[in-house]
Amino acid sequence: MRVTSTDGVGLAVYEQGPAGRPVIVAVHGYPDNHSVWDGVVAVLAERYRVVTYDVRGCGASDKPGRREAYRLGQLVEDLGAVLDAVSPDRPVHLLAHDWGSIQSWPAICSPRFATRVASFTSISGPSLDHAGTWMREATKHPGATLRQLLESHYTVLFQLPILPELAWRTGRLDQLMAVSRGRRRSSAAADGKPPRSDADKINGLELYRANMFSHLSRPRPGRTRVPVQVLAPVDDMFVSVALQTQAPKPYASNLRTRTISGGHWVISDRPDVVARLTAEFVEFVGGGDETRALAKSRQRRHGTFAGRLVVITGGGRGIGRACALEFARHGADVIIADVDDAAAKQTVTLVRAAGVEAAAYHLDVSDAEGWERFAMRVRDDHGVPDVIVNNAGIGMAGPFLGTTVADWEQIIGVNLWGVIHGSRLFAAQMVQRGEGGHVVNIASAAAYSPSRIYPAYATTKAAVLMLTECLRAELGHEGIGVTAICPGFIDTDITRTTVHVGVDEAAQQSLREHAVASYARRNYTPERVAKHAVRAAARNKPVAAITAESKLLRTISRFAPPLARQVAKVDLNKL
Ligand code: NAI
Repeated sequence: MRVTSTDGVGLAVYEQGPAGRPVIVAVHGYPDNHSVWDGVVAVLAERYRVVTYDVRGCGASDKPGRREAYRLGQLVEDLGAVLDAVSPDRPVHLLAHDWGSIQSWPAICSPRFATRVASFTSISGPSLDHAGTWMREATKHPGATLRQLLESHYTVLFQLPILPELAWRTGRLDQLMAVSRGRRRSSAAADGKPPRSDADKINGLELYRANMFSHLSRPRPGRTRVPVQVLAPVDDMFVSVALQTQAPKPYASNLRTRTISGGHWVISDRPDVVARLTAEFVEFVGGGDETRALAKSRQRRHGTFAGRLVVITGGGRGIGRACALEFARHGADVIIADVDDAAAKQTVTLVRAAGVEAAAYHLDVSDAEGWERFAMRVRDDHGVPDVIVNNAGIGMAGPFLGTTVADWEQIIGVNLWGVIHGSRLFAAQMVQRGEGGHVVNIASAAAYSPSRIYPAYATTKAAVLMLTECLRAELGHEGIGVTAICPGFIDTDITRTTVHVGVDEAAQQSLREHAVASYARRNYTPERVAKHAVRAAARNKPVAAITAESKLLRTISRFAPPLARQVAKVDLNKL
């Protein structure tokens, strides 16, 4: 279809999907044309009428030569003309990226569009006026402003005559785009890149020249009541998460912000994610249920983990329970998985008292099939978790030569396989969802402290630490953080259940009593561990050594390995 705008410029408009269904109008950015939405349209058009169009200067639309023809006011007129043509009687849902979003903001802030737009999903394109005001308030967020200014350096280049055109024609800017797209690309990203012509790249430069400085230097921020959802890709090289999520706050009274994994071209890299989140919002605005993720995006609760879903294994007691309560204190809902059902239920009661939701499940973390069932149940009944804390673990002490195959199988099953299963199943869900997440593995100071007194335990914990580092290298590209927590001696029930191998029952009892007494004397509580663990997860620290002895042992292992080998020979039970 061809639509003529108010100044006579012809726009190429494309429609797909069943008539009579809610209409979604997708507006592309620079230097794209309507086909950048192909992947998203393929999904959305199964349920919605989806309209895309080539912005003036791009694709099959007319290409006016005058710079004034690219001013935001005229682009808003273009959008209005498209809406009149495709949905004259019913409000539409807007979905826009980059400059498509920049030009949609003034539209939804104009009273003229108040009843024409039912919802707006904005990706990587803040209002220039909101951005201008945000930058003027740099003292409130100096670091974020500086970062954004650095990320926007290319916009200055685009103001120059001839040079940017030359950079496109010689392929230099294509190389930069390839780098930005390749950076931290998800393994689930779609192949291929959207077709762009030289005309798309060169005509669109006028968008920058006609609008950037006039709006950023003299912002006239408008307000809107249209429900807005901002999807901010965490690895966007050009538009920071801070700018996208903070700048509209004072001006959009019905605003939700969500971070998603991916870079600036997430719309073509993860069309499945963009389509799903858009549809979720369209359905909600149309009277459907508010999903957990949508509720979270409104941030009614306070706290670093407000509205997030955290799964904790071994959360029935000790460090796991303390972590559950600490995450709850930061606003998270919690799922406890434990072999001890009564203990897990008790934790749930305590967590609920903090005003968040909690549920308990029976799980033996060494049971692969049990894990499969549990992970599916969590996804279906609660949604994909934002954080998995692989905490469940058992203690084992005594000489290597006294450790039987059954002992090894037991401790490897719980301490290592438990962490492997939890990370494997939930990380896969997180990647599929495309909104990032975090894996927290409770290792131990034993991971880097060889000792004759706990070879089996230390071996499993060293493996957990190494697994954590490997996962971190792999999952960073997916927007998933991975942290190892390495506590020292913590006063928990683990001292009462630790298996001392190769000794009779009486000796076992006496060794346990010795451990209970010395851990009690050390008096480092699981609550203190939980505080550090949650903070480390929030900051995405790779490794957090907790307690003075853990920090000391880590330093020795890194800088004085011969000393660590001497310490390894000491039998702590005889001290
Ligand atoms: P704890 O014994 O107080 O609590 C362990 C929890 O895990 C219990 O609720 C227990 O029922 C559950 N659990 C045990 N086996 C399980 C299985 N197969 N499947 C599911 N749940 C299971 O122990 P604590 O001290 O809280 O230990 C938690 C984690 O912290 C463990 O991985 C441990 O190795 C680690 N850690 C503990 C230290 C300490 O000094 N307490 C020091 C360093 C690390």
